[in-house]
Amino acid sequence: MKIVVTGGAGFIGSNFIFYMLNKYKEYEIICVDKLTYAGNLSTLKTVMDNPNFTFVKADICDRETIYKLFEDVKPNIVVNFAAESHVDRSIENPDIFLQTNIMGTAVLMDACRKYGIDRYHQVSTDEVYGDLPLDRPDLFFTEETPIHTSSPYSSSKAGADLLVLAYHRTYGLPVTISRCSNNYGPYHFPEKLIPLMIANALNDKPLPVYGKGENVRDWLYVEDHCKAIDLIIHNGKVGEVYNIGGHNEMKNIDIVKLICKELNKPESLITYVADRKGHDMRYAIDPTKIHNELGWLPETMFADGIKKTIKWYLENREWWEEIISGEYQNYYKKMYENR
Ligand code: NAD
Ligand code: DAU
Repeated sequence: MKIVVTGGAGFIGSNFIFYMLNKYKEYEIICVDKLTYAGNLSTLKTVMDNPNFTFVKADICDRETIYKLFEDVKPNIVVNFAAESHVDRSIENPDIFLQTNIMGTAVLMDACRKYGIDRYHQVSTDEVYGDLPLDRPDLFFTEETPIHTSSPYSSSKAGADLLVLAYHRTYGLPVTISRCSNNYGPYHFPEKLIPLMIANALNDKPLPVYGKGENVRDWLYVEDHCKAIDLIIHNGKVGEVYNIGGHNEMKNIDIVKLICKELNKPESLITYVADRKGHDMRYAIDPTKIHNELGWLPETMFADGIKKTIKWYLENREWWEEIISGEYQNYYKKMYENR
């Protein structure tokens, strides 16, 4: 079994590679990653010497290189994690999001059509459903919820999803799509809420909460997401969409306060800053379909997962300190100074 994992030097893709190499000793994993600001080879250092693992530095938008790779490797399965993934960056510069998230997906699926594939799996997001109001806790996103996006990021992911479904209907490509809620865990890039707050708190820097911090996200430990994708690529029905989420809704402000408590830092570090443009209020996944069809259930409780995550950031300071010492400084200034 040969699996091409795109975006495997990023947060979820790397965790998926670790999970799969550990679980399936006979599988070959070929990681394809452009190594953008969000991709780090140091993340993959523990698997670089594994004979079942190969790293290829390539852009999924580069048709010639991707075709050559498929011709050489002849993968059985492709799992596409490669994407521009940060909503705030998409608000600043949508262009690269359209390129990578839509055009890159098209190139990968064209390669699958040309060279043949058993399964193309698209890693999508609950953000394609837009948001839910705070005063309707009875509402959840199901697979039937209409696509209704808010940001250039979520629009680009929705565009890709529609293209994936079109390639299934038009060309019979054997596809599946998963739409997951917010992940957290090791190797999460420190531009995102949880790792940013952990890094800032450890450095006694202000903790910038957008708006009033009332927005709700449905947090899932990254390994539970990886387990769900594993089930979908092996047992999921071709042409289907599966929602993934752990019924773990939390307000941003409560997460930030929890991080302060765990790290023994004062809540006075919390600073309310200008809100994100078009900020989605609430995400909440109904995971009934993946539970009933594939038997998936989240295994890590948030109370344990956040402790494990904080411990990981404490024990792996060099990983995130290296990241925040470089170009990240310019990003941080641009996004947060005078906000
Ligand atoms: P990430 O930003 O941490 O990693 C993205 C990876 O893709 C990086 O290694 C980057 O170098 C690579 N990449 C970017 N452009 C590329 C290109 N053109 N060619 C090849 N590689 C490229 O993202 P993440 O948080 O790990 O998210 C992975 C996927 O999961 C994304 O598709 C995202 O939309 C989706 N998703 C993320 C979450 C979440 O909470 N993080 C939740 C649901 C879905
Ligand atoms: O729901 C899945 C999505 O979750 C994925 O598709 C995205 O790739 C992923 O980045 C994530 O999107 P969010 O926008 O929800 O995640 P982020 O960590 O950027 O923000 C989480 C919440 O915290 C959001 O309401 C904005 C807020 N926030 C974020 C940052 C970075 C702050 O209040 N302050 C911050 O500094």
